[in-house]
Amino acid sequence: MVSPSLRTTADPLPPVRHVLVVGGGGRENALAWALARCPDTEKVLVAPGNGGTAGLPGCTVLAIGEQDHQRLLAACQEEAIDLVVIGPEAPLAAGLADHLRAHGIAVFGPGGDGAQLEASKQWAKALMVEAGIPTAGHWSVSSLEEALAVLEEQQQPLVVKADGLAAGKGVTVPDTVEDCRRAIEEMFSGRFGDAGSAVVLEERTSGPEVSVFALSDGERLVLLPTAQDHKRIGEGDVGPNTGGMGAYAPAPLLDADGLADVRRTILEPTLAALQGRGINYRGVIYAGLMLTPKGPSVIEFNCRFGDPECETLMPLLGPELAQVLLACALGRLDQAPELSIANRCSACVIVAAAGYPGEIRRGDPISVTLEANAEQQLFHAGTRLDTDGQCLSSGGRVLAMVAQGDDFDQAFARAYGGLEHVHFEGMTYRRDIGHQVRRS
Ligand code: AMP
Ligand code: GLY
Repeated sequence: MVSPSLRTTADPLPPVRHVLVVGGGGRENALAWALARCPDTEKVLVAPGNGGTAGLPGCTVLAIGEQDHQRLLAACQEEAIDLVVIGPEAPLAAGLADHLRAHGIAVFGPGGDGAQLEASKQWAKALMVEAGIPTAGHWSVSSLEEALAVLEEQQQPLVVKADGLAAGKGVTVPDTVEDCRRAIEEMFSGRFGDAGSAVVLEERTSGPEVSVFALSDGERLVLLPTAQDHKRIGEGDVGPNTGGMGAYAPAPLLDADGLADVRRTILEPTLAALQGRGINYRGVIYAGLMLTPKGPSVIEFNCRFGDPECETLMPLLGPELAQVLLACALGRLDQAPELSIANRCSACVIVAAAGYPGEIRRGDPISVTLEANAEQQLFHAGTRLDTDGQCLSSGGRVLAMVAQGDDFDQAFARAYGGLEHVHFEGMTYRRDIGHQVRRS
């Protein structure tokens, strides 16, 4: 039975007064900050949030883990929540959105069925092939022997991807056939647990990468500005992959025509293929694209906002955001106000703990002497408050310094300038974020 609040109706969209954001990273703090700025919003709860959540105007921490479906539902009912926004992929894949929707709560974020777009690379590849979406050629394999037989036949270094969620660490891009063999053996050795018991081998493609975000209500799409992430730990884009060390938006790699093509050839067919599988996808379709010599090709889909792309994008979005996300949650994007997007450049630099992305240092007090500035935002990610209220580092990616400007030089100068007012022992960040678009 469809609950009354989820039924499509001709009534105006209800106001979004009480919001619950689920997750505890920089992405969720940025979402909470942006939703708290919307005109009807009275309170934003963030579960479990982090050390910076309570410092965001209008935001409060709710000490409930993202896996605790029962308590999250109870909080929605007690706090009369109008809209839940689920940030990370794990609770989406675990069916949190389904659980809350089954009790009549409006949720932005796909159910467990739609979250397979990210949670199973084999599933996503099959969907892309069926829908004719441009993506690298691939082989889905489920045993070491099968994988090695493909490699033997292909005699080229294939990209090796764990099928399931592996916290951004499930992909190896080997340079030689021998390295590829080792990556395959490692994948089937159990290092990724269940995530590595099924594997996708993929042809290697090349070109710049860009992140595209579409908000879907199950039938319609609204596109956000494109963003470019910096996945490698080291300056010059070298070293191991990370969750993302910085970003900028909009990415000039795709102009308005290029983005319109991506909408037509990738996003709309993806939504149609989801519908064809009976999936009512209400959330973000995040397409990680590679701009190859043959055109844009999908590297991966995610079922949520990118992190740190989300921190970068939120300051560019207008006060209609809460209504637009609610409209997605209710399947009513046709009745939503148009989402205004500032014609500005946004820059984000991630501050990481010493050792990231390996063994990290934690527990260092963080000092911030930044003065409030409408064009600068410091979002917390891996931080927590100790019992005295002191903010401590507690994760690999600790802070996201974001700033806007008329051009990228100005935006990055503000972001890096802001970081001179932030300190904790062992903090590290890349000084070359945005090198693709900066002149200084
Ligand atoms: P993913 O976790 O799927 O985003 O992959 C991590 C990174 O691996 C991507 O950002 C790409 O840089 C790289 N990658 C993934 N698939 C391919 C491919 N088919 N060819 C070349 N590089 C790839
Ligand atoms: N920034 C990459 C991701 O969120 O997956």
